[in-house]
Amino acid sequence: MTAIQISATIASRRDSLTLVALPNSAYLARAYSAATIRGWGLVDEEFVDNARSVVSELVTNAIEAAGLSEKQPKLSALLAGESLIRLVLEVPADIDALVIEVWDAHPHAPEPRGEVAFDSLSGRGLALVDALAASWGYRFPKDAPPPWTKVVYALMPLP
Ligand SMILES: Nc1ncnc2c1ncn2[C@@H]1O[C@H](COP(=O)(O)OP(=O)(O)OP(=O)(O)O)[C@@H](O)[C@H]1O
Ligand SMILES: [Mg+2]
Repeated sequence: MTAIQISATIASRRDSLTLVALPNSAYLARAYSAATIRGWGLVDEEFVDNARSVVSELVTNAIEAAGLSEKQPKLSALLAGESLIRLVLEVPADIDALVIEVWDAHPHAPEPRGEVAFDSLSGRGLALVDALAASWGYRFPKDAPPPWTKVVYALMPLP
């Protein structure tokens, strides 16, 4: 009975949120991630802050890649496949880490900028992810769930 309860708890440490590619969605993703992670009993504030920052950078990149530039895009544009982003959070049963996945439909891979000019306003997001996560990367899985084609992921060791 106890074993069943434990495995049920572990199995439930996976959740996902589908977002439209609007700037407000980054805020939603941050709030959702912090609440979800805390809800799983992972209440170390530094861990929650770092995970939320990684989510923020990856979701913001996906929002920018979708390129909805109008302030009030038409509903049809918002719901089109290429404008949808899926955030998945998971603590797999066999890994002592939080896995953050951000799925999008943009055909290009993330390109870390390396050294950026001291006065550049951008180009540091993936460097921040690299500093906070144990590892990160991307894949274009053949069996990606439509409309998504690419997943950018990061692993955050549990405290
Ligand atoms: N999901 C993505 N799809 C396509 N291209 C991406 C994606 N994520 C990142 N990139 C590319 O990688 C580049 C580097 O991303 P990074 O987050 O390091 O910097 P930035 O987004 O340009 O600036 P900052 O994050 O500092 O505001 C981006 O400019 C973009 O060209
Ligand atoms: Mg960025």
